[in-house]
Amino acid sequence: MARKLAAGNWKMHGLAADLTEVARLAHLVTAVDCEVLLCLPATLIERGVRAAGGRIAIGGQDCHRAASGAHTGDISAAMLVDAGASHVILGHSERRAAYHEDDRLINDKLTLAQAAGLTTILCLGETLEQRRAGETLAVVRRQLTQGLPPDVRLERLVLAYEPVWAIGSGLTPTLPQIAEVHATLRATLADRHGARAGGVPLLYGGSVKPGNAAEIFALPEVDGALVGGASLKADEFGAIVAALAAA
Ligand code: PGA
Repeated sequence: MARKLAAGNWKMHGLAADLTEVARLAHLVTAVDCEVLLCLPATLIERGVRAAGGRIAIGGQDCHRAASGAHTGDISAAMLVDAGASHVILGHSERRAAYHEDDRLINDKLTLAQAAGLTTILCLGETLEQRRAGETLAVVRRQLTQGLPPDVRLERLVLAYEPVWAIGSGLTPTLPQIAEVHATLRATLADRHGARAGGVPLLYGGSVKPGNAAEIFALPEVDGALVGGASLKADEFGAIVAALAAA
């Protein structure tokens, strides 16, 4: 069985004043029985770790494929660790689209991030055109097999199925559609890694809210969520965490 994980992605939101939400969330989730993570903007990681008081893990949202070097404006996996991050999101569809990140690049980033000690959240998901063309399962299988190095450390891996068209749109796939992709991801991992694949948390992401979280968490092979907009406010994210803990 994979551990349950509720992960928030603040994207490019958050100033020092918003750390009160981190502290409030830490208070709300003190007694819940699941892992809680906030992936903050890099500028807030160190202060976020302090505000979280050890009750919430803090992560980054991306890192470079190289360990160091002449890459103005970029951030390395070791820098995230140095700031106190335990996790990093990789291959988010916003980065795939805006920065043309491909599976090869994401594979390099994941390899280095795992070596630096980070738990890596690999994001996968189809566009609306790909779904309409019946390509969803082929797309996520390809993103999974090409995004992971052969010697991936499964204990440092989380997968997040995030249909591109569901992110920030208020739209979500049907429950059977989510279940179908999650079953495919689990089976693809198991083909490559055997029984140990069962321990990799599989998250769903894309317009998860307090109102739809419970039905999504009730699905087989859904071990949690990657939450964007609804993770910005502690009360809203706290309600999603509570739904996961109860699932
Ligand atoms: P959303 O974003 O919850 O705002 O749809 C999810 C994500 O991009 O991880």
